[in-house]
Amino acid sequence: MNTLMFYCCHVLAAVCLNMGCIAQTSGNAAAGIPSLKETYKADFLIGTALNTGQINERDQRAGSLIAQQFNAATPENIMKAQLIHPEWDRYAFDLPDKLIQYGNRNGIVINGHTLIWHSQLPAFARRIQSVDSFRTFFSDHIKTVAGRYKGKVQSWDVVNEALNEDGSMRRSVFLQQLGPGFVTEAFRLAAEASPGTQLYYNDYNNEQPAKRAGCIQLIKNIQTAGVRIDGVGIQGHWHVGKVPFKNIEESILQYAALGIKVAFTELDLEVLPRNFQGADVNQRMQEGAGIDPYKDALPDSVQLQLAQDYENLFKLFIKHRDKIARVTFWGVTDGDSWLNGWPVRGRTNYPLLFDRNYQPKPAFYKVIEVGSRK
Ligand code: G3I
Repeated sequence: MNTLMFYCCHVLAAVCLNMGCIAQTSGNAAAGIPSLKETYKADFLIGTALNTGQINERDQRAGSLIAQQFNAATPENIMKAQLIHPEWDRYAFDLPDKLIQYGNRNGIVINGHTLIWHSQLPAFARRIQSVDSFRTFFSDHIKTVAGRYKGKVQSWDVVNEALNEDGSMRRSVFLQQLGPGFVTEAFRLAAEASPGTQLYYNDYNNEQPAKRAGCIQLIKNIQTAGVRIDGVGIQGHWHVGKVPFKNIEESILQYAALGIKVAFTELDLEVLPRNFQGADVNQRMQEGAGIDPYKDALPDSVQLQLAQDYENLFKLFIKHRDKIARVTFWGVTDGDSWLNGWPVRGRTNYPLLFDRNYQPKPAFYKVIEVGSRK
């Protein structure tokens, strides 16, 4: 038995003794293991991103894991404008409707993602020339999509990634066409269309001081205009061994001081070489020697570092659980992660708590241990 296997068995036995394991589920890839959502049920929601195959329930092994482990979900792509609003007067609600039903059947609340984002916009929206037409697209989109899922989604990422790293506003098509007030306007429209839904601003690296300052300003602008904002999403696309714990804690405190909730909305820890931080989908990296070092397996040393980072992150989350609404992982298993295809295609990444065989990793047991000890 290698060190890691020994470690897993040991921690599993301890956790089972302490909290009792959940019942076996037939066809369950990870039957008999503790449940994240049960362990953290008094603290915050535990979510996952869901891809199209999972929403269509094509993968039974993923299905049982999702129902066992998570009480919140965010569609990874299907509610983005390009997919839900492909033409000026056509919306594609079939899959999002299916997601809502899936959530209802499995006791999973849905976070709508995302109403306004510069990326994955439909082609017709990029071609709009006049400001008036663009404004019509903008408000029709929010009213129609947020209105349809009123009372059906628990929260919306109303605006996604409107900031640059220095805290200034990104020169997106929204800024160019509508000016900086588009953020507040998006929240105003969403609040009108979906009064009971929690409204979030969502970004990556907004735990970093400069970007955080810009984010705080954005939130204050919304509040000063008398428009509702309920929370801020810190995406949490970090790098193993380099998780910015101090900035994360300062951010939780500073955002909570604005009277809003904090959610960690897209958590994953990159283990592969990368020469920049963040999650700007337009950024790419050159292929080259050493770019995909763990094709066959993850070395024990990295596996342990990953477990340690997740352990410390969840210790921090527990410390501030009164300020945190939800922690969502960006994918169910390592095999599902977008980080296998970005910023270089075709790599083998290991950023999540479940491996490619749907089995819990040492990091999973560390997260369970932190949640069971409190
Ligand atoms: O659906 C098409 C398919 O028809 C086509 O054959 C294939 C060819 O490349 O592409 C498929 O679309 C891909 C889509 O994911 C669904 O798999 C897109 O190319 C690909 O770009 C897209 O990537 C998504 C990315 O956002 C795009 O912006 C990732 O899955 C998704 O995880 C990622 O999520 C974002 C969050 O929404 C916002 N924060 C950052 C995060 C990570 O980038």
